Amino acid sequence: MYTTKSVSCCCIFALLAMITATYILFDEDNISQQKTFYPKRLSHQTNQQFNQSVIPEEIKERKIIILFWKPLFGRYIKINIDRKCGNCEVTYDTNHLETSDAVVIHYTEARKDSLPDSAKRHSNQMYVFFSMESPFAVSVLRGMQFDSLGPYFNWTMNYRRDSDIFFPVFEWFEGANIFNGDTSAQYSPKVVQNIISQKVSQPLALWMAGNCGSTQGAKLRMQLVDELEKAGLLIEKRGGCFGTGKTAPRGEAYKPFAVKFKFYLSFENAVHCRDYITEKLWKNALDSGLVPVVWGPKRQDVEELAPKGSFIFYEDFNSSTDLVQYLKYLDQNETAYIQYFNWRTKQPSPDQYKLVEHGVDYKRISGMCQMCKMLTEKNKSKNF
Ligand SMILES: *[C@@H]1O[C@H](CO)[C@@H](O)[C@H](O)[C@H]1NC(C)=O
Ligand SMILES: *[C@@H]1O[C@H](CO)[C@@H](O)[C@H](O)[C@H]1NC(C)=O
Ligand SMILES: *[C@@H]1O[C@H](CO)[C@@H](O)[C@H](O)[C@H]1NC(C)=O
Ligand SMILES: *[C@@H]1O[C@H](CO)[C@@H](O)[C@H](O)[C@H]1NC(C)=O
Ligand SMILES: *[C@@H]1O[C@H](CO)[C@@H](O)[C@H](O)[C@H]1NC(C)=O
Repeated sequence: MYTTKSVSCCCIFALLAMITATYILFDEDNISQQKTFYPKRLSHQTNQQFNQSVIPEEIKERKIIILFWKPLFGRYIKINIDRKCGNCEVTYDTNHLETSDAVVIHYTEARKDSLPDSAKRHSNQMYVFFSMESPFAVSVLRGMQFDSLGPYFNWTMNYRRDSDIFFPVFEWFEGANIFNGDTSAQYSPKVVQNIISQKVSQPLALWMAGNCGSTQGAKLRMQLVDELEKAGLLIEKRGGCFGTGKTAPRGEAYKPFAVKFKFYLSFENAVHCRDYITEKLWKNALDSGLVPVVWGPKRQDVEELAPKGSFIFYEDFNSSTDLVQYLKYLDQNETAYIQYFNWRTKQPSPDQYKLVEHGVDYKRISGMCQMCKMLTEKNKSKNF
């Protein structure tokens, strides 16, 4: 099948890969659902993960200020950090520039002319590069160049597991789903049966795309989808690429619309970018009860992030014809199809799958929570 060597973006943009990031991602499908990093939650009793390292009372009481230097794509997203992560507050008020513990700079602002005044930077402050888009989109599409900045950032925060602060994409999504909040009602044989009972055979697959070719990956996936259609797969195509009247229902209306399709084409707009796995897998497919057919990331990254046995990997097949044949086989054999939902028959424990939250007060240690913890730890080691 298609060889991806020539467009392996993460090799070409090794530097950028360190500092990676949101626009395409959010432009593409579900922007309305990506309002906040964290929903407002009551914080009371701590859970086992959080009391592994107990924060001294003195530190706890001092408020740590995290300044978002500019709103993200012009939007002042309200960010609440659970008290269990530490005593941190997020502000957009630039009067805190010199007094904040961390300054978060979204990649769109990482240009000489829009960075904070360097005279106001203090060596004890952590400057954090934040981005949820692929390096390719950041560099080529948006034309961002960071090498001229020299050593500037102390931490990176993005979807890559090897960034200083891991921020999995689905943490953007508000509210309870299979990963966030109280997930207990999302896993059971009954849930799976309910999903299966709503399936129809035609069209067999759903695909949504809003970026029709502004990245190499986006161009490529158009061709791949064409091939699948030629090989006989009926695909419901939705999104900006397919004209007006073809947008998919959003918000609450998405799931009931999507659940009837058996497969979702989780085709990213970037090729083999490490850990670049977006809402196409998490929300559009897995959370809505569709089996994702994944193209874009490397198999190993998907295996390590997605629930076991939950996806079909495009590159496993020798040709579009083989893949389409397999999807049609699964359409005919419910026993085989339903095996892709085995992971959903029982809620995994945090040990089995760290990325699932357990209850509204549970807060996995990633994203803003991790930043808050790290800032708390940093001050603790300095002062004690
Ligand atoms: C940690 O949590 C457990 C269970 O919630 C609790 O019994 C224990 O006392 C906690 N430990 C600390 C040090 O807070
Ligand atoms: C963290 O430490 C720095 C320098 O030691 C200090 O200026 C700052 O106020 C501290 N912040 C908090 C929240 O303790
Ligand atoms: C953060 O990075 C800047 C620039 O490289 C450096 O001068 C500063 O010492 C770093 N601060 C900390 C706390 O590591
Ligand atoms: C793909 O082709 C190779 C070599 O011809 C073969 O060994 C392999 O089984 C094929 N894979 C699939 C999934 O058909
Ligand atoms: C259907 O799938 C099951 C499970 O993979 C398999 O054991 C069975 O042989 C398949 N049936 C047919 C008719 O292919």
